[in-house]
Amino acid sequence: MAFLSDTLARVKPSPTIAVTNKARELKEAGRDVIGLGAGEPDFDTPDNIKAAAIAAINSGKTKYTAVDGIPELKKAICAKFERENGLKYSPSQITVGSGGKQVLYNALVATLNPGDEVIIPAPYWVSYPDMVLLAGGTPVFVTGPMETGYKITAEQLEAAITPKTKWFIFNSPSNPSGAGYSHDELKALTDVLMRHPQVWIMSDDMYEHLVFGDFKFVTPAQVEPGLYDRTLTCNGVSKAYAMTGWRIGYAGGPEALIKAIGKVQSQSTSNPCSVSQCAAVEALNGPQDYIRDSRVAFERRRDLVVKALNECPGINCPTPEGAFYVYPSIAGCIGKTSAGGAVIADDEAFASALLEETGVAVVFGSAFGLSPNFRVSYATSDAQLTEACARIKTFCEGLK
Ligand SMILES: Cc1ncc(COP(=O)(O)O)c(C=O)c1O
Repeated sequence: MAFLSDTLARVKPSPTIAVTNKARELKEAGRDVIGLGAGEPDFDTPDNIKAAAIAAINSGKTKYTAVDGIPELKKAICAKFERENGLKYSPSQITVGSGGKQVLYNALVATLNPGDEVIIPAPYWVSYPDMVLLAGGTPVFVTGPMETGYKITAEQLEAAITPKTKWFIFNSPSNPSGAGYSHDELKALTDVLMRHPQVWIMSDDMYEHLVFGDFKFVTPAQVEPGLYDRTLTCNGVSKAYAMTGWRIGYAGGPEALIKAIGKVQSQSTSNPCSVSQCAAVEALNGPQDYIRDSRVAFERRRDLVVKALNECPGINCPTPEGAFYVYPSIAGCIGKTSAGGAVIADDEAFASALLEETGVAVVFGSAFGLSPNFRVSYATSDAQLTEACARIKTFCEGLK
């Protein structure tokens, strides 16, 4: 009898975490490594949020809480949804988990039966397909190529829907491409979804606040109120307030689904950290300067990286609408040999040779379901980004 489950055999460990670990190992071995793999802001959590956490500890908020969130946090989340997204939810329609990742996972576990299909636009966040597989469902991929700004069209979505489709996972701005859907682009997708009442929408709005220029963020239940009753609107404080380690994510949706998510959580982790919940209340209700300041910094870095990467022979880097990632194509590098003698057969070989020969760590595109590309997280200092791009340029110039 096998000890490990058949389900586990279907999933793979996170390649983004693997790249981060490899970069750390090389650093510890004394190599000069610049990590562009991690998906977290390099800024510190704002002081007012830290102070709220310290006050929570000092006032004894250190016990178990309600499984899916304290009332003050649910209230703050309702206010946030109304203020920023025009969505009205009552506290009984809100669930809070240990990160957005747990909320998404619990929702899939709570709803998927074997054979249920989940439509995932590619390139996708690495965890979606594996979470679907762990929950017993079947991922169905729809590719948004570089030519359409890494976005899928209404026709593609329509063609992917079957009677077995249970969820459509929507992520804008996207990890890994940074692509953001405009109101009209999203409306074209929600029009399709209106014709298929069996399909539920899981909107992952984690990068909502990181949008640049004139781009305006929108979420499905806001663009098409007709979908409100079958949409789970997911968000969190990790990226918006530089709180990745605090582990607070949340969602608003129909009460029955929210209850089901809470049931899964009640038998696995119980409540998210009590202190972190108090910090999240301050994040959502307190001053919002951090959001504005980080957006300015990230937009500057996006422009720096896009310009520098487009100066590298063989690389084509479109300008994304948001998040803190770019997803350049390396079609022009495939089949060449690096100065160190590595054959660039695919994007994994590119990323591996780049790390070995220059010390720059990026994540290869096949991890995100669209090749040949790589993902750069520009959540690091301007100086590090400038140096990393210079090394990538030298590497590309050395390809023969
Ligand atoms: C698209 C996307 N969704 C969700 C998450 C999960 O974030 P957290 O669990 O920290 O809330 C991430 C984190 O990288 C992400 O990139």
